[in-house]
Amino acid sequence: MKKKSKYNVAVVGAGVVGVEMIRCLKARNFPINILKIFARSNREMDVDGQKYQVEAISEDGFNGIDIALFAGTEGEKGAAVTYAKAAVKRGAVVIDNGADFRMDKNVPLVVPEVNAKDIRKHKGIIANPNCSTVQMVVALWPIYKKYGIKRVIVTTLQASSGAGKQAVEQLSAEIAQIASANYKNVHVDLENKAMPQQLAYNVFPQIGGFAECDFTSEEWKLVNEAHKIMGDKKIKVSATTVRVPVRTGHSESVYVETKKPINPDEVKKLLSKSAGVIVIDEPKKGLYPMPKDVEGKYEVFIGRIRRDPFNKNGLWLWVVADNLLKGAALNAVQVAEYLIK
Ligand SMILES: NC(=O)c1ccc[n+]([C@@H]2O[C@H](COP(=O)([O-])OP(=O)(O)OC[C@H]3O[C@@H](n4cnc5c(N)ncnc54)[C@H](OP(=O)(O)O)[C@@H]3O)[C@@H](O)[C@H]2O)c1
Repeated sequence: MKKKSKYNVAVVGAGVVGVEMIRCLKARNFPINILKIFARSNREMDVDGQKYQVEAISEDGFNGIDIALFAGTEGEKGAAVTYAKAAVKRGAVVIDNGADFRMDKNVPLVVPEVNAKDIRKHKGIIANPNCSTVQMVVALWPIYKKYGIKRVIVTTLQASSGAGKQAVEQLSAEIAQIASANYKNVHVDLENKAMPQQLAYNVFPQIGGFAECDFTSEEWKLVNEAHKIMGDKKIKVSATTVRVPVRTGHSESVYVETKKPINPDEVKKLLSKSAGVIVIDEPKKGLYPMPKDVEGKYEVFIGRIRRDPFNKNGLWLWVVADNLLKGAALNAVQVAEYLIK
């Protein structure tokens, strides 16, 4: 990318991730000349007391844009599939948050703490991984480099905001409905809702549709994206993804089987000095990462680091991060920062 003192930046999507992108760009003093925000319709939007003009997206809206951060919806008619290539044609580098280009061999899939060097290979589009993948690979990478990894078994506990603005609203509406009624007599109408089950006072083991071997699409993302980012398809990753009634902040219970025997005290030290990681691990004092504490934070928080008593190569980790920040907006802005370096 041509070096400039300030860049024209577009944020595509004004949902939960788009808003966090605007906040991250501002908080990190990204050198912006013009900031454009695109969504499906024209309107004004307030972010932390500052008014922004949202423009209805169009191909020509990308004229003169240097970097386009996409946080629109995914899929055939979604923002990235419809507009990313048009933006690239007009000279922008696209950093996309959705799943549409992640596994494309011409598109680097980047978590800067792991594979920032892949940014250089881009041909116009760079993909951001799925939120649950980002925090998992940030935690795994230092362990992979030191001990090697044979297998990972992960259960995710994912917040409602991971499914977008409507899912956050669905959870709040369900909580209000249940609070104002007799708990047992509540029927939550799920028609046209963002999530397939009631989430208030509930958890459900389904994120995405069911796919190969009865794993969900979200579970396969953890496998395929971890392989691409870490550059090792031999790691046996197996996942169960669960939606939990948390607003923001994904938690993951991760079991790692390493190639070399592992020492949990050594791992604590290793992770404590790893990029983008904060270790909180004093469980007897009630100190371990929790989603309510990580909301609004940039790092990946790791605790409950302990060895499997039956396997000298087995390690458990509890990994928590803000899915809208490190899982999406922050990671995209970090990629943009590398691009302009
Ligand atoms: N939420 C997370 O934790 C997370 C993490 C990683 C990745 N992602 C990905 O990030 C993207 C955004 O997610 P989100 O959670 O922010 O969703 P969201 O809250 O539902 O917001 C989606 C936004 O995209 C806009 N949009 C939809 N279709 C569009 C189109 N064709 N052209 C332009 N704008 C369009 C919507 O516009 P209107 O406001 O005008 O309707 C809305 O502002 C998705 O691809 C998602 O998979 C999300």
